[in-house]
Amino acid sequence: MAARPSIESQTKPPAAARCRWLHERYEIQGWLDFLKKKAVPRHHASIFYYLGGMTLFLFFVQVASGILLLLYYRPTAEAAFESVQFIVTQVRFGWLVRSVHSWSANLMVLFAFAHLFSVFFMKAYRKPRELTWVSGTILLVLVLCFGFSGYLLPWNTLAFFATRVGSQIAGALPFVGPHLLRLMRGGEDVTGATLTRFFGFHVAVLPMLTTVLVLLHLMMVQIQGMSLPLRRDGSVPPTGKPTPFFPNFLLRDLLGWFVTIGILAALAALFPWELGQKADPFASAPAGIRPEWYFLFMFETLKFIPAKIGPIDGEILGILGFMGAGLVLVLVPFLDRKAARGRWSLGFTVAGLLALAYMVAMTALSYLRSRQG
Ligand code: HEM
Repeated sequence: MAARPSIESQTKPPAAARCRWLHERYEIQGWLDFLKKKAVPRHHASIFYYLGGMTLFLFFVQVASGILLLLYYRPTAEAAFESVQFIVTQVRFGWLVRSVHSWSANLMVLFAFAHLFSVFFMKAYRKPRELTWVSGTILLVLVLCFGFSGYLLPWNTLAFFATRVGSQIAGALPFVGPHLLRLMRGGEDVTGATLTRFFGFHVAVLPMLTTVLVLLHLMMVQIQGMSLPLRRDGSVPPTGKPTPFFPNFLLRDLLGWFVTIGILAALAALFPWELGQKADPFASAPAGIRPEWYFLFMFETLKFIPAKIGPIDGEILGILGFMGAGLVLVLVPFLDRKAARGRWSLGFTVAGLLALAYMVAMTALSYLRSRQG
């Protein structure tokens, strides 16, 4: 006698049938097969494969918390500060959402840098992943633009004067500088028009560009799979049995994301993001105006450069130097020909280590100097 079907199977269609329904309409079987086959290499440096996913997760946190903030935020010079004040004092859990958004923004920058340096040192940019690297460098610029544009939105004293200084530095560039300055500020000075522009960039232009680019970046990673790090003798490290992406790797990713939510919540609750005083454009700039920590290494460098180097303005030379360094960073996969041929290139690793040490040292120096007043 045939076994009686369980209550569950009488009420729910079996999983295969549910997939069949979708498959008949959207041919999902190919995607399911791909997910089943996808695996992540396992070796001594596999931990670094989680950094990109962590950056992605923090981007999601930014989008979700940003949408919540949008429910109350008002982007005008008259109302911006008061609307943020309302969010943190009157709206239920508004203080938490604002703090999470601010802390998560900082962690996202940190993880984007950590991801960049890890793929750099593993030489994951080498053939055939050149364009994955290039799309990554553009993503980093977009992430920094998010930080710069978001900083002004609460319209407090610190943000106002830091934006004035930041846009002034960009405006010092030869030829394009004055146009760039006006494009950013929407006039000659930082005013309500600047706030409206920064708001537009922050909530529309940058999210749209970032979404498109992240999709492209992930698509390239999916097509090519994860690379293996290159060792000094040019060989690849011994690998264990690859970790299936679904569900093993994804579950570990999820675990990391849960821990990050905990860290974010703790940071937001223990160190709520300060609001400061409302910006007064007619007041003189307070002492010690500084940009966000991720711009400090450039800010500090500019202070060391003499006002004039020959006939050229020192600041302009500094900015051009950083732009040149940015271009070299984008072109790394095309410049490191040895790595492209699967051979170790000590020069690039040493240059990366020096750049990292320089950035950390300059940031630390900037903090030390600010504490000494
Ligand atoms: C919004 C910023 C970014 C997001 C959301 C993101 C996301 C990801 C994800 C999820 C992966 C696969 C897992 C991993 O390798 O960690 C990946 C791989 C990769 N990313 Fe990014 N990334 C970002 C920025 C960058 C930056 C700044 C660079 C470097 C310039 C970069 C270069 C790469 C490369 C070369 C790979 C392939 C790694 C390999 O095959 O081993 N990404 N990215």
